[in-house]
Amino acid sequence: MDLIDFDLLKAHAIKKPKEFLYSHPEYRLSIWEWLKLKYFIFLRNHGYSVAAITKHKEFYGLDFFVNKHVLIPRPDTELMVTEVIEEIKKTNEKITLVDVGTGSSCIPISVLKNLPEPVPTYAIDISSQALKVAKKNAENYGIKIQFLRGNLLEPILQKISGKIISTANLPYLTEQQFKNEPSIAREPKNALVAKNNGLALYEELLQQIKTSGLDATIFLEIDPSQTEAINKLITKYLPESKIEIKKDLGGLNRLVKIS
Ligand SMILES: C[S@@+](CC[C@H](N)C(=O)[O-])C[C@H]1O[C@@H](n2cnc3c(N)ncnc32)[C@H](O)[C@@H]1O
Repeated sequence: MDLIDFDLLKAHAIKKPKEFLYSHPEYRLSIWEWLKLKYFIFLRNHGYSVAAITKHKEFYGLDFFVNKHVLIPRPDTELMVTEVIEEIKKTNEKITLVDVGTGSSCIPISVLKNLPEPVPTYAIDISSQALKVAKKNAENYGIKIQFLRGNLLEPILQKISGKIISTANLPYLTEQQFKNEPSIAREPKNALVAKNNGLALYEELLQQIKTSGLDATIFLEIDPSQTEAINKLITKYLPESKIEIKKDLGGLNRLVKIS
C-alpha cells in the first residue's frame, strides 16, 4: 500500500480530512481509531480500493459518495465530462442531457456543476440500488436531475422530443478482462461486463437511437481495443453520422463522439 492510500485510510479512521494529518503531525490515534485503521488496512490488502473503504471518490474535483452497488468513478471518464461541457456551451439549440448507465451519477453532476445555466437532465440506470446512490449525490450538490430506472434509453423514448446530448459509460469489458483484472474483482460485475466482446449494450443503444429517430449527439466511453468494432457498429446503425475518437491522458482511444 502506498503512503497516499495509508493517509487516506488513517484520515477516514479518525473522521477528518487528510489535510488534518499534515497540519497535526502530533495527533495520536485512540485505541478505537487504531483498530479501525487496522481493519481498513486489512480490507485494502484484500482487494478493496480506498474508495470502496472510505465510500468516497474524487471525480472532476468533486466528492462522490460510492458503495458496492456502483462503479467507482474513474479518472478516464473525466475526458467525457470535459467534452460534453464544451459541446453544451457551443450549442445554441435547446438540449436535454441524458446519462445512460448513470451509476453514482458522476458524469451528469460534474457536467451540470460546470455549466453557467442548468440544462434539463435525465439519468437512467437499470439498477435501483445504483439510483439510490445517484440521487444522494445529486441531493448533496443541489443538482436537479430526473432519475429513471430502465433499460438504456427506453424510459425516456416517449418523454423527449428535440435535441439530446447523451452520455454513456456502460459496461464494456469482456468476461475475460474482468477475470484477468484483480483490481476490479470487488466492484459490481453488472456495472462492468457486457456480452459480445463488451459491445452488446452499446449495440442495443445504437439500435434504440436508430429506431426511435432521436436527434442525438452521443458520447460513449470504450476500451481502446474496441475502436474498430465500435466504428463498424456505428456505421451499421447510424450510417449518416460523423464519428470522432478522442484519446485519454494515456494517449489511448477512450471516447467516441457520434453526431
Ligand atoms: C461502467 S458503470 C458506469 C457508471 C457511471 N456512468 C460512471 O461513469 O462511473 C455502468 C452502469 O450502467 C448500468 N447498466 C448496466 N446495464 C444497463 C442497462 N441495460 N440499462 C441501463 N443501465 C445499465 C450499471 O448498473 C452501471 O451503474
